[in-house]
Amino acid sequence: MEEVRITIKPDSPIGTISPRLYGHFAEHLGRCCYDGLFLKPTSAPVPNQKGFRTDVLEALKNMPMPLLRWPGGCYADHYHWRDGIGPVEHRPRRLGMSCGEIVEDDNRLGTHEFLWFCEQTGAEPYLAGNVGTGSPQEMCDWLEYCNSALDTTLTRLRRANGAEKPFGVKLWGVGNENWGCGGNFDARDYALEYRRYATMLRHIDPHVELVACGFDEPWNRTLLQTLRNHVDTIDHLSVHRYWHGEGGELDPSEKVSYRLFTEAALTEAFIQQTADIIRVELGERRRVGVALDEWGIWHPEARLQFDPSKRGGPYEQVSTLRDALAAALVLEGFHRQCRVLSLANLAQVVNVLHAPIQTRGAAMWRTPTYHVFQLHAPHIGATALEVEVQASLLPYGDELRCVTATASLDKEDNLTLTILNLHLDQPASVHFGGTEGRVLFEAQLLTADSPHDNPLAHNSAEQPNAVMPRPIKATESTQGGYLVNLPKHSMATFRLKRK
Ligand code: AHR
Repeated sequence: MEEVRITIKPDSPIGTISPRLYGHFAEHLGRCCYDGLFLKPTSAPVPNQKGFRTDVLEALKNMPMPLLRWPGGCYADHYHWRDGIGPVEHRPRRLGMSCGEIVEDDNRLGTHEFLWFCEQTGAEPYLAGNVGTGSPQEMCDWLEYCNSALDTTLTRLRRANGAEKPFGVKLWGVGNENWGCGGNFDARDYALEYRRYATMLRHIDPHVELVACGFDEPWNRTLLQTLRNHVDTIDHLSVHRYWHGEGGELDPSEKVSYRLFTEAALTEAFIQQTADIIRVELGERRRVGVALDEWGIWHPEARLQFDPSKRGGPYEQVSTLRDALAAALVLEGFHRQCRVLSLANLAQVVNVLHAPIQTRGAAMWRTPTYHVFQLHAPHIGATALEVEVQASLLPYGDELRCVTATASLDKEDNLTLTILNLHLDQPASVHFGGTEGRVLFEAQLLTADSPHDNPLAHNSAEQPNAVMPRPIKATESTQGGYLVNLPKHSMATFRLKRK
């Protein structure tokens, strides 16, 4: 049994954990938007609201999902927003393209449908504009259509399509991965294109927040240097981080698991490095946030070509408890970096890649990652606190400890502590302190029997509740604080209120 001491530091606040750090991403790719979120003509006839699956909608409301990016991804740089407004039967049929996928796209899920869904689920919308095949005028028109309160031909069209009031969309991405699928730009050319788009977009609505496409260090430096005299055009710098989890989605070997955790933990260093580049290049002239607007595990099995007897569509993977613990590790890093990380979107929200929700026909289930997000909900909007953890190192983890933790204090003065035991074999006997004057009122555990089982623990259409949170007991320690035995390969959230 691993002996661990955790000290929460309520007097050492790091910053506010913005709801935007708990964002998600819905792309027209595989079965994410069509079939997963929104029914298409060939979908199973399931209860729905305005075409959105009711079961998925309700599950996302309860996760919760404070931010949702749409419509891509690589899809965004082929997408023309006018195709997705007006009567559905009049919408054009196009090629739907992203990541090598080419499908028939009847555009039945467009701007109004997406923004209605955001309103229902409580998500702030984040729209990704088209740089690859679009124009500044096309994106300006989309912005005017969505946000202008004036009486123009475009806003009359919006009203005629059912939205009397402006949608007030704040977050706009200027392209996606324009160093690759979004046009194979080089950094300087993209920076000049970005500057043109951003300047024109600001004229339409000076209050929007604009997201520039970032990439690696040389790209980010060149981009920011080129924009140096126009820093007011940029609010967020988008970067993506996928871990590739050598070994495969269900490979139970110890080495694969620990390497995955290490890869996931490095996401925090990547955020810091990106923030450092912004600081060095822009100095005090502009606060630009790091927008990690795609992140998660991308297993080798999640690819365009897929075996229909094993998965429902392209880019789908089995989402295990191991993936969920890796996600939890990343969320801890988000809390520590909340002063520089301005938003983050797990990729993607349903079926595709690291999805919290999966569907197959009429069946819908929550993956262990869904439960991690739900157990993290009390941290959303709270103040992240410093936490000290004394624990030994993981076998393959380089500098990764087998037990890690994050804590926050909300506006009602409730303290939330989330602890992860990444060890595959050792339970941990944990003492947590820094809880003076507070009493535990809720404690939930997420785990599964054996992390060495093949297949690894996961939920499915047949067993939707194989991995589920359940209560865990913590006892008051005579030295103050609490004692808890945390099973191997687990996560637990503890909530404490003032006595
Ligand atoms: O999330 C899948 C794809 O990954 C996105 O379309 C693209 O932005 C990234 O390469």
